[in-house]
Amino acid sequence: MPKHKEWITYGKWKNKYGDIVGVRVFGKSIVILNTSELAQELLNSRSVLYSDRPAFPMLEMMGFNSWNMGIMPLGQEHGLLRRLFSWLLSPKEVARYNDIRNREIQRLLQSLLASPSEFRTHIRRMNAGIIGQMFYGMDIEDDTSNLIELNEEIIMKTSRAGSPAAYIVNTFPIFKHWPKFLPGSGFRREVQQGQELVSKLVKISFDLYSPQQSLPNIPSLLTSQSDEKMSPEEFQWAIRAMASTSYSAGVETSTSLLLSFVLAMLHYPKVQATAQRQLDEKLLLKAHRHAVA
Ligand code: HEM
Repeated sequence: MPKHKEWITYGKWKNKYGDIVGVRVFGKSIVILNTSELAQELLNSRSVLYSDRPAFPMLEMMGFNSWNMGIMPLGQEHGLLRRLFSWLLSPKEVARYNDIRNREIQRLLQSLLASPSEFRTHIRRMNAGIIGQMFYGMDIEDDTSNLIELNEEIIMKTSRAGSPAAYIVNTFPIFKHWPKFLPGSGFRREVQQGQELVSKLVKISFDLYSPQQSLPNIPSLLTSQSDEKMSPEEFQWAIRAMASTSYSAGVETSTSLLLSFVLAMLHYPKVQATAQRQLDEKLLLKAHRHAVA
């Protein structure tokens, strides 16, 4: 099993063995789906059968499982978060955040004009701004807690800790009980660093939220409109879990999508020119209509 950049090896396996590859690593089965159609069919259309996640002891020991919905096993807590997310991010509800999105897009355009070569940072900042405002009720511009850096560190840690072969304990869970003083217990240092990062993030998720925020945000909606019968502890847990999940689930994914778009435009300048022309036509027409009216 590859330890890094697994997708490159998986791509080679696809050419050699086909679209579905099964591997057994020390008694554990891993199935690799190598086309998006297959992933859609099995994980979306037949999600009732296939939507649980594998357990990664490294992630469990670091404490990610109890907070991050994308990693936690299916069960009551996952069910509660899924209900809340389906409600709070439904097409009707997300319309509340249009102003936040528009403001962040304007900030992005201004930053791109000022320093175009830093487009990666600007795009990530825009996504962090939207999520920060929606889930923490805070403006990332005023953030003094280094939320962006903290989350990036966490994403680096989780992607490694969630790799089947990167740590011995992920392959042999019995190593969880390996004494600290014996050789081979180096992963415990990583576990401790992971735990520290998780508790920082989870604490921040609630501390940063300010009920005085004027813009709409998910914590205040939860307080004012939720039908869920939640105790104050469950309520705090839900806000923390939603905020910490959304940042890691939403910022890097959306950033990667937009960066892929930039790359595609660079590779296909003719397509870019056509898109630009069509946009100009539409926008100029709209501006003209606006001026006439
Ligand atoms: C281009 C952007 C995105 C991509 C490609 C993406 C991709 C994914 C994928 C592949 C999963 C795993 C699904 C599964 O386990 O069945 C997932 C789960 C999830 N994503 Fe996204 N995502 C994106 C944006 C977002 C955003 C913006 C948010 C929140 C604001 C978000 C929140 C979540 C949550 C909460 C889950 C866990 C769902 C569950 O456990 O049922 N994602 N995402």
